[in-house]
Amino acid sequence: MTLEIRQHGRVGAEILGIDLSCTISDEDFAEVRNAFAEHGVVFFRDQSFTEDQHIAFARRWGPININRFFAPHPAYPEIALVVKEPDQQHNIGGGWHTDHSYDFEPALGSILAARELPPEGGATAFASMYAAYNGLSARLKERIEGRRAVHSARHVFGSKAGVYEAAQDSRSDGRIGNSAAADVLDDPVHPVVIIHPLSGKRAVYVNPSFTVRILGLAEEESQDLLAEVYEHCKRPEFQEDFHWRDGSIAFWDNRATWHYAYNDYHGHRREMHRITIEGSALV
Ligand code: SIN
Repeated sequence: MTLEIRQHGRVGAEILGIDLSCTISDEDFAEVRNAFAEHGVVFFRDQSFTEDQHIAFARRWGPININRFFAPHPAYPEIALVVKEPDQQHNIGGGWHTDHSYDFEPALGSILAARELPPEGGATAFASMYAAYNGLSARLKERIEGRRAVHSARHVFGSKAGVYEAAQDSRSDGRIGNSAAADVLDDPVHPVVIIHPLSGKRAVYVNPSFTVRILGLAEEESQDLLAEVYEHCKRPEFQEDFHWRDGSIAFWDNRATWHYAYNDYHGHRREMHRITIEGSALV
């Protein structure tokens, strides 16, 4: 099979000619890694891989982060379940975010595999934080350059959670848990603009779900600046949707993209399997 990389609209690349159920060659791995670093998210279609193969593919990238808050797959703790049942209202990931920015060494990326899809809807939107950085006005760029921001999971997964509404869903049935662990987490500080560890490109690294304030600014000024940055990053020209089909897999870079899951398929079941790969401290 010959590997082919096609731009996916405004954000991401689709990779064809690869079977993720097999051990991929070092050459193909290097090409996938370059596409991942360059585009921020890569998509694969018509894959048929088992949970063991999902785990094996993830391990090529680095150690797996066992999620502290999402319900694990009953037989594979490495796999976090992202499920919405037909009678549930809230979905997981239904707001712009990047996974694990609340960690001191934020995750490299997440590999999401579709396992059961609704007949319609249930797409995932991605926004490129490379493009968002490049599109900043000189004024906004100057205001955030060199700044650092505090990130937290406590307001999201902790006992006072409100943002991540699935945590509050009376029918969440254990989808999100471990709030006591979230309550005692320390909050890391990361640069507002990072140099991406693989591509060397600059990317905006604050997100509406987990960033709580910018250091060195009064609370109101910090919130106003974050709001301005978010409004900019949400511009349609930096976004693209990914429409899932059976056998689809998305592998996003948490340092280069935001994502959110559409919640437009009430009454239907959606089950996704997510594996998150450990990253490193950001500069
Ligand atoms: C997530 O935010 O990790 C889940 C995204 C999705 O279910 O589409």
